[in-house]
Order: sequence, then C-alpha cells, then structure tokens
Amino acid sequence: MCGIVGFVGAEDAAPILLDSLERLEYRGYDSAGIAVVDRESGLQVEKCKGYVSELRGRLTQRAPMTGCAGIGHTRWATHGEPNDINSHPHVSQNGRVAIVHNGIIENYIHIKEFLLSRGVTFASDTDTEVVAQLLEYFFNDCDDIMDAVYQVLDRLEGAYALGILCADTPDRIIAARKDAPLLIGYGEGCSFIASDVTAVIAHTRTVSYMEDGEVAVLTRGRVEVFDEYRRPVEKTSHYVDWDVSAAEKGGYAHFMLKEIHEQPQAVRSTISPYLRDGKIRFDGLSVSTDYINGLRDIHIIACGSSYHVGMIGKYNLERLVRVPVSVSLASEFQYSDPLVGRDSLIIAISQSGETLDTITAVKTVRSRGAHVLSIVNVVGSSLARISDDVLYTRAGPEIAVATTKAYSTQLVMLNMLGLYFAEQRGSVAPDEYAAIVTALEALPAQMQQVLDDTDEYQYLASQYFNRERVFYIGRNLDYALGLEGSLKLKEISYIHSESYAAGELKHGTISLIEDGTLVIALATYAPLFEKALANVREVQARGADVLALTTADRAGALLENVHNLMTVPDTHLILQPNLGVIPLQLLAYYIALQRGCDIDKPRNLAKSVTVE
Ligand code: G6P
Repeated sequence: MCGIVGFVGAEDAAPILLDSLERLEYRGYDSAGIAVVDRESGLQVEKCKGYVSELRGRLTQRAPMTGCAGIGHTRWATHGEPNDINSHPHVSQNGRVAIVHNGIIENYIHIKEFLLSRGVTFASDTDTEVVAQLLEYFFNDCDDIMDAVYQVLDRLEGAYALGILCADTPDRIIAARKDAPLLIGYGEGCSFIASDVTAVIAHTRTVSYMEDGEVAVLTRGRVEVFDEYRRPVEKTSHYVDWDVSAAEKGGYAHFMLKEIHEQPQAVRSTISPYLRDGKIRFDGLSVSTDYINGLRDIHIIACGSSYHVGMIGKYNLERLVRVPVSVSLASEFQYSDPLVGRDSLIIAISQSGETLDTITAVKTVRSRGAHVLSIVNVVGSSLARISDDVLYTRAGPEIAVATTKAYSTQLVMLNMLGLYFAEQRGSVAPDEYAAIVTALEALPAQMQQVLDDTDEYQYLASQYFNRERVFYIGRNLDYALGLEGSLKLKEISYIHSESYAAGELKHGTISLIEDGTLVIALATYAPLFEKALANVREVQARGADVLALTTADRAGALLENVHNLMTVPDTHLILQPNLGVIPLQLLAYYIALQRGCDIDKPRNLAKSVTVE
C-alpha cells in the first residue's frame, strides 16, 4: 500500500525524503513524489509515475528544492490510474497546502461535489485530492491551519494516514491518522512521520505510534500530539532494535533471497526467549491455566501467508491441544457474524500488524468478549496494540513483498504456543513433548542444511521456468504447505498455480492433468506417505510430470516413481513444514529469476495491505 514519509529539521528535507522513500519501496507502489516548503520558495512539488529512481531523475532537471520541512509518498493506485497527476503529494488549487495520504476516503465523491459547487477545480481523479482542496477551503475561511485540519477530519469518512504541509507555516508538518498506520520518529533536532519504521531507522530508533483520531504537529525540536477533541496526548515511545543493515540487501541479488537465507537465525531468535531447560514457557501471557483448561475453541484469523501458517496451526493445535480449531481468512471472518465468546481464544497472525482486514476482524471478536492473542513481527504495530496478548516473532524487518522468514517464525511460534497449551491441559504425553522440544532445538541447524546447497533448485528452475501452470498436491500438513508453495510461485513468477488436497483430485482437479502438466507432489507428512505415493501414480497415469518433495529417509521410495525429487531432513512431523517450505521458496525464487521478474516488488502486490 502507499508509503508516507515526512521530515522537519535543520537541513534540506528533499534528500532525506528520497532516501526514506527508497526504504519504503519494498511495499510495492506505482508512483512517487515529494513536497518541500520554505518561506521564500513556498511549496515545491515533484511527482511522477514510476519508481523513486525516476523521481530522482526529475529532480536533477529542475531547480533544487529548498526547505527543511517536507512530505513524501509512494502510491499504490486505488482511485485513478497510476500517472503523474494522480501521484501524491496533492496540492490545493491556490497552492496553500500539500497532502500525502494512505487509505481510502469513502465519501470523496460527496465532498468533491460540494467543492465543485463552490467553484473549486480539481486536477486529479483521486480521492485524496479532496482532502487538500477541502483543507484549503476551510483554511481560507478561518486562517488557522489546525482549525481547518480538525474541520476536515470531522467530515472525512474512511481510512487515512495524512501528512500535511502548509505554505503559511513552513516550520512544521502536520499528521493525522484513522485506520491506517502512521508513526512519529524522534531524531536529534529533527522529527519524522512514516507509515513504517524501516523508513526512519537510519535516522532514529525512537518512535511512537499514532492512534485513531490523533493529530500531530511536528517542528524541528518538538512534537505535539492531540486527540480528536484537541486535548494534548502524552505518547509512549518504543525503541526499535532492528539493525539498519537488516533492511539492506547485504550482497544478495534480492531481499527475498537474503530473507530466505536469514530463516535459520530468525527461527532461532524466535524460539530462544521461550525455550529454557527443555521447557516452553510463556510467562508473560495473561491467560491463566484455568482459562487454558476451560478453552472451548480456538479461532485463527489471518490473511495471505499468515493464513497459511494458520492452516498448519489448525492441524498441529488440534493434535496437541485437543480443542476444535478453526482457521479463517480475516476478510471473510469479519463479515460472518462469528460464534465466539468469552471461552474462545482468537489467535491473530500478522507479519506487519497493520493488515486492515485482520485488525477489523480482531475488533469484531473483542467486542464479543473473546480473548485475542496476536502473533506479530512489528513491535508496537496496530494489531499488537489492540490485542490482549502479543507474541513477537523475531524475523527482523522483512522487505521482499513475498514473505519467507516471517512465515517460518510464525510457524514455530504457533507450534510452541500449541505445545505450551498442551502441557497446561495435560493433552500431550511427556515423551512426545520432549521429542518436539528436541526437534525445535535442532530446527535452525536443519534449516541451514537445506540452505547450504541451492544449486539443485537453480537446476530445477531451469527445467521448469517456462511452464504456464503448476499444481501442488499434498495431504494434511503437506496440503497446507502446498498452499504456501503455490502462493510463492504465483506471487513472484506470475505462473498460474493452485494447491489441492490430494484426496480431492478425483473430485474434479484430475481432469486438468494432461501430458506434461507439472505437478509438485508434497510427501513429507510421514503418516500419509503411502497415500501420497498413490496420488503421484494417479497423476502420472494421466501424463503428469511430477516433481516431488519428501524427507531424506523416504527419498528412495519416491525416486523410483518421479522425474525429479527435492529432499529435506527429517524432524518431528509437526515441524516438517518448517523444513519443507524452504525448497518451495527457493524453487519459486529461481523460477522467477529465470523469467526475469521483479522479484522483490511483484506487480500489483503490496507488502502491507492497509485497505479493505
Ligand atoms: C500481503 C503480503 C503477504 C502477507 C499478507 C498478510 O498480501 O504480500 O506476504 O502474507 O499481506 O500480511 P500480514 O502482514 O498481515 O502477515
């Protein structure tokens, strides 16, 4: 989704804004722009369709932009095609204010009609421009920018994170938020706003997160925040311990490849705070043993790959905890009038903690009394702040749109949580518990083993990169794993792929198999290996070209039957997807590479989806 940055300090804002925008590029976008203000030159704006590099090019062809306060934006088009005019910042007709916006103004047509009837002229097709025009309209009337801002916010329906620059007050930027992420960064003699912490960590690690209804006024050495009634608000600041280099490529061709290789370390860091002396401990959780014992059901809600983690979680939690577990797409769940109450535990999973569908679903269940435990990667993010309990994965900043290390860390976190609940409820045998703990301890090294030899995946990619459709099949955990493998492939290579429960093949899918169709058969789930083998034969009999994935000790049995084989080490069966996902990620990566795709920023996709 759109990225927002803002800076006010002692030096020229333009270079800092450009640098921060580049750090937001990973979110996915189609145009970029900045606005800077100073007393002599007033508002200066440059914006264009395309990447920040194109914006930089434009800036070299014009007089330097001077001014120590500015705002910047990367746009992911919703209203109006991606072009120069629809790019942000949007400037009001008399040039008094400039606006950057993330979110959707739902009543923009209504506001536009009102302003058109008052003689205001519009330049763009966007919903955002109405905010700039309405702000100037009120500002002309009251001549107090804060009064005008509050009058505008009163009339907006929808979601917004706004950065505002005003020609009359060149010493400040103003920010406002409702249902879209926005943070404040506190630097040495300077202040920032940003939609995401990666934009500012090169300058400051101290941030606070704006809440719905808040308005912030940032000047060089001071930040003031007010609530919706204009009362001052005391903000709590958070220290972000992410390393700046973690958000840089560090010699890898793509962030995605780097993040694939960071998985052993990310998983180790996620496990270690909770695993001591052979025991999983979640001492900080507010749920009591009585509550865990009285649990009626667990509902997992998430989107995208986080939902796929939930799919694996359903199998593993039911197996360990012995309570019914449902897993739902947050976008569906929020409108389903869910049957949850005080004895329901909601587990919300999100890398960013800013996915609007997940946040809305959580608000729905909280209003019905359910307890919400979130698994989140970004400290202090919106989802974390509205949850009863938060468990942070320690993946570090994930930049590639296609998630890899966040997925792996979410998986181990959910498994540890299941194991912890199971121990409290007495639903796991002590030797089984010990076996899983031992397997967890060994997992990072086993993941590294898979990553130590990537030549094989490059070779396989060279064999398959020109296919136009691919099917993944598997049963139980392999089915859930196939959903993620298939998503990785389609996201970054644009090959049409689907994942099917292998037992369902006969009920329709098998009619799609013809001579040479590529089927990726997942057979890592030991209890159903023989059935997986039968499914391989079934598709081969219809001409499929089968690439299989299995564990080292079953490789022999499969090799006789398939064209190509990928293997991973054996682990406890509930952790097997943590190893199985790596070959699927690497295969998708190298296939996309061979197809010449923009791997870190796939078309039309965004890293953090903050609109419905
Ligand atoms: C986007 C990303 C996916 C991610 C999904 C959910 O679609 O491209 O990689 O899985 O959002 O995001 P979340 O931050 O809630 O995990």
